Amino acid sequence: MTAHTPPASPAARVAELRELIDDANYRYHVLDDPAIADIEYDRLMRELEALETAHPELADPASPTARVGAAPSREFAEVRHAIRMLSLANAFSDEEVAEFVRRIEEQLDIREPSFAVEPKFDGLAISLRYEDGRFVQGATRGDGETGEDVTANLRTVKTVPLRLRGDDWPHVLEVRGEIYMPRAAFEAWNEKARAAGGKVLANPRNGAAGSLRQLDPRITAARPLAFYAYAVGVVEGVDLPPLHSQVMQRLRDWGFPVAELAGTARGAQGCLDYYRRIGAERDALPFDIDGVVYKLDDLAGQRELGSVGRTPRWAIAHKFPAQEQQTRVEAIIVNIGRTGAATPAAVLVPVHVGGVTVTNATLHNADQVARLDVRIGDTVIVRRAGDVIPEVVRVVPELRPDGTQPWGMPTHCPICGSEIVREEGEVVARCSGELVCPAQRVQSIFHFASRRAMDIEGLGERLIDDLVALGFVKSPADLYALTVADFVEMRRQADERDGTTPESVKAGKVATKWADNLVEAIDRSRVTTLDRFLHALGIEHVGESTAKALATWFGSLECIRHLPWPLLTVVPDIGGEVARAIGHFLEQEGNQRVIDALLAGGVRIEDTHAPSTKLRARLAPAIVLAALGIPKLTEKRAAQLVAGPDGAAAATSIDAEGLATLGMPEAVASAFLEWRAQPAHRGLLKRTLVATQALLDELATLDGGDNSCLPLDGRTVVLTGTLSSLSRDEAKERLERLGAKVAGSVSKKTSFVVAGEEAGSKLAKAHELGIEIWDEARLQALLDGNR
Ligand code: IVH
Repeated sequence: MTAHTPPASPAARVAELRELIDDANYRYHVLDDPAIADIEYDRLMRELEALETAHPELADPASPTARVGAAPSREFAEVRHAIRMLSLANAFSDEEVAEFVRRIEEQLDIREPSFAVEPKFDGLAISLRYEDGRFVQGATRGDGETGEDVTANLRTVKTVPLRLRGDDWPHVLEVRGEIYMPRAAFEAWNEKARAAGGKVLANPRNGAAGSLRQLDPRITAARPLAFYAYAVGVVEGVDLPPLHSQVMQRLRDWGFPVAELAGTARGAQGCLDYYRRIGAERDALPFDIDGVVYKLDDLAGQRELGSVGRTPRWAIAHKFPAQEQQTRVEAIIVNIGRTGAATPAAVLVPVHVGGVTVTNATLHNADQVARLDVRIGDTVIVRRAGDVIPEVVRVVPELRPDGTQPWGMPTHCPICGSEIVREEGEVVARCSGELVCPAQRVQSIFHFASRRAMDIEGLGERLIDDLVALGFVKSPADLYALTVADFVEMRRQADERDGTTPESVKAGKVATKWADNLVEAIDRSRVTTLDRFLHALGIEHVGESTAKALATWFGSLECIRHLPWPLLTVVPDIGGEVARAIGHFLEQEGNQRVIDALLAGGVRIEDTHAPSTKLRARLAPAIVLAALGIPKLTEKRAAQLVAGPDGAAAATSIDAEGLATLGMPEAVASAFLEWRAQPAHRGLLKRTLVATQALLDELATLDGGDNSCLPLDGRTVVLTGTLSSLSRDEAKERLERLGAKVAGSVSKKTSFVVAGEEAGSKLAKAHELGIEIWDEARLQALLDGNR
């Protein structure tokens, strides 16, 4: 498609590009069958944009480049619909449908007429006008007589054709249909809005209506809208076929999206069969529908029947149960997920929504509760659509009883009692009882046993699921007490529960080899390194590299597990957020008890060493004080605070006068005193200062030699190619143990590159930058010499 000889003129190339892009859009958005790769599409688009910029005379509102959205307007112009946009009467029961069909049979004197049957899309109606195959105007339904001109916005909707495909189109063609927001796009939009603390859309219909009625088309362009055609208005110049279903087929040929679910049905029974079929598919559809529509297929019959007021006699909407209902909030509870995320949910007076009884609806997070201001006792609108969890959409303020209170996230986990913590800038609050919270058990044990943590071979998620479900383990520490007999008994109970007892077991034979292996693997994991152990605890934000940094700098579990969190930030790369998460974890008694139990169970950390003497420089009082996150107290101000005769001790007792004497600006001084007035802060301050001193005392007892001086300290190494004697991971780990930082790409900062077999571009880059290159033998010699 790209290999063509360049056409003579820009105009010809522009025309060609527009055709290629229109075609690609149609294949992608309407047929859902992309013909070219995204990258090729982008290239064509860029070429067209460049040509249109260079040749403004070639600009065209029907060009695919117009879809990004034109400049905003002040208000929408009015559009009078030459043919009124009708609305449909509703049927809620089989009887009403039968009655509708009976009347048509009677009036037209026919039996079992054929109906065009279609989904009833839950969006908003629009009318699109085409002149000589080009989109010229789009309008909302308005009151049916007059709507609003939303042409610029509709141009941004990818499934609205800007030019018609094929040929023999009418000179004037009005197409009517529904603008809607696909469910996935709606969910994704809200997910993003919630994460950003923004305003969420109540439902896809409101999303579509709100997006289309934006005065700035660029906003509409950013919203994921789509379109389905379901009728025609004015048609001039061509005679359309005699059946509605045939007209729809014609629209398909011209490039309009027409629902694949549309079809034909005979008589009332055929209509009802269709209703049930679509009803069964409803939840799985990618868009919301609120019913189905039956239209007499024969257009001559339609004309003969005419309409009463605004509703035609030849069509009816057969509605499904509503997806939104009103009910009352009896309680607001908090669910703890497998990762500790605390999600508020409303407990509701049971209500039927979309054919299902709903008793619970999610409130997503504390911000959402605050935004909606949902309170216990409130009457709310609940929505259930597709396979999405029911959610509270809004409160009905007029029905709020007296004496309600705004809701707040509880401070402690309803399941394990550990603290619930919400970090600054985070939307999600979490239970910090990682090791003890039953809700997190399977997840935390699975992580604990994983290869890069304690590496317990063979202990997979299913096994852990069973061990937890049957009560054999409650925390990672319980693993170390498991015997072969426990595993065998656990398997027996699981088989019994699942009804899967093997014949061999029924016959009294019990295989135990697998259990032997597991107990052995658990035993092997007992001897470990500090970084693996820390990583295995599953502390929020503590991955392998943070665990390694902690291990290198502090050297022992005993040192780390009682450290106030501000001291953790003296380690490069550990910020306040990570340090606080570790602090919260270690403050939970339950977590500390599990650590004790692990050690009592025989877990041994073999690489314990004294803290790095490099810490000395980082434990300067000013650095430590600044790490507490006291408002306005920068490192510079902290240095001022400790410059007096009392040194760091001044921080716990100094008053406003003392601070003034030290020359502290009034604002900094009062922010500091206000912070310190809180007992929790005062406690943290004292503990931090005491711990700093204790650490400094310990460092003073170490001989002057830098115990942390590892052979590769401060060096950055890049591995490339295949090593024959060890895997990349092993090489990385061993190098890191020698103090190196192992990076993924070569830069000026690289100290040396280890090149194995078939080293490629990284080796070339190293040559280019004149960086030292090691072969495998040299690496091996270093590793052998530093076992
Ligand atoms: S036909 C003369 N077909 O339902 C009938 N309408 O109250 C004109 N709708 O405003 C409408 N899906 O927004 C028709 N397949 C469908 C429809 C549909 C949804 C909406 C449309 C209209 C309302 C009828």
